[in-house]
Amino acid sequence: MSKFLSGELIKLGASVELRELGKQEGTDVDLPPIVLARYGSDPAKRNILVYGHYDVQPALVEDGWDTDPFTLTKIDDKLYGRGSTDDKGPVIGWINSIEAHQKAGIEFPVNLVMCFEGMEEYGSDGLDDLIKAEKDKFFKDVDATCICDNYWLGTTHPVLTYGIRGCSYYALTVSGPSADLHSGIFGGMVSEPLIDLTHVLAQLVSPQGKILIPGVMDLVAPLTAKEEKLYDDIKYTMQDLYDATGSKTNLFDNEKESLMARWRYPTLSIHGIEGAFSAPGAKTVIPAKVIGKFSLRTVPDITPRALDELVFKYINEVWEKLGSKNKMEIKLLHDGMWWLSSPTHWNFEAAKKATKAVWNVEPDLTREGGSIPVTLTFEEELQKNVLLLPMGRGDDGAHSINEKLDMSNYINGVKTLSAYLHYVAVEPATA
Ligand code: BES
Ligand code: ZN
Repeated sequence: MSKFLSGELIKLGASVELRELGKQEGTDVDLPPIVLARYGSDPAKRNILVYGHYDVQPALVEDGWDTDPFTLTKIDDKLYGRGSTDDKGPVIGWINSIEAHQKAGIEFPVNLVMCFEGMEEYGSDGLDDLIKAEKDKFFKDVDATCICDNYWLGTTHPVLTYGIRGCSYYALTVSGPSADLHSGIFGGMVSEPLIDLTHVLAQLVSPQGKILIPGVMDLVAPLTAKEEKLYDDIKYTMQDLYDATGSKTNLFDNEKESLMARWRYPTLSIHGIEGAFSAPGAKTVIPAKVIGKFSLRTVPDITPRALDELVFKYINEVWEKLGSKNKMEIKLLHDGMWWLSSPTHWNFEAAKKATKAVWNVEPDLTREGGSIPVTLTFEEELQKNVLLLPMGRGDDGAHSINEKLDMSNYINGVKTLSAYLHYVAVEPATA
């Protein structure tokens, strides 16, 4: 993907560097390089940094895809494929914008500074360090940043986003016997790792979504009346939630509490168990070693280190109480910070005008529940405003089966990104 992107960019006349990041920590695997590119170097123009990611979540046909997830397939007016909306479509969108300007013979309005990475879905390994190292070099003259890696809240109304949650991802390993055992022979004679693990996992969160790790909720910034009022104007209905999840499995009965749970409170999700028997059929096995994966979405004012301390302490206490002779290890796999800004900066003003020009409506201003780990790093290190300007819709199925991008969102999305560049080129710098 990094070679493909650099090829496309070079064809369009951009200068491109593939920055190698060395090995992934604790492994012998090369990290995917970061694509650092620049298009234009006119000192009279603004330098706009755009960020996106070319890596994607895993996808297997067996998960239930109707098409091959790694062959982009157009059906009716939708483009299906892993990454169509998250985030290959938007990354290609920036490149389309350059190409469209060239073909139409229109001068490109800004110098485009591009940073496309390949580890976003795994906590952006290596990128924080690169941003810190390059802030006075590659990123030195950036005036504002735009990230296109999020979605509309629903399916009809465009949004601009000024907040996202962080994510801390943990692996809890329980091991005992040296190999998987026959449950008829050894069941009842030995402590079973999967029984221990499920007991611990069950004590992390209630079925109603309440985080059971003491102290986590105490770190959450209090809700102010001003913030609470903002939720009244958001165009989002319970039907949007039913449609996007294909179910009525909502934990809250109203829009406001549902959105608050997604945007401004932490949540804990259990993702899976490595090593557990998961194939079809009935295998009478005692798995010898199992790894439970769970993550917490973090919000102001939770810091990753304070959270780690609470998680590790609680898991150790719960484990002690089990009195098991198995071995337990809890590890943080990756973390990324939350980000919360204010949508009044000129960078947002330009995006509002672009949205209005293309979609003929004012965008809603939203926060989001997902995470883009480097958002805060860009803001803090470069000391420049960051804006999240989405391309896709709330029902695109990012991370799920049959991920799609509607053609109209793709085409109008490229127009919106392009219009944004034209507006941000001339927007008076007010803040
Ligand atoms: N595009 C998403 C982030 C996102 C999700 C923004 C929902 C707005 C709404 C991004 O590619 C993503 O999925 N990030 C991971 C990061 C994590 C592994 C640290 C995520 O949120 O799970
Ligand atoms: Zn993603």
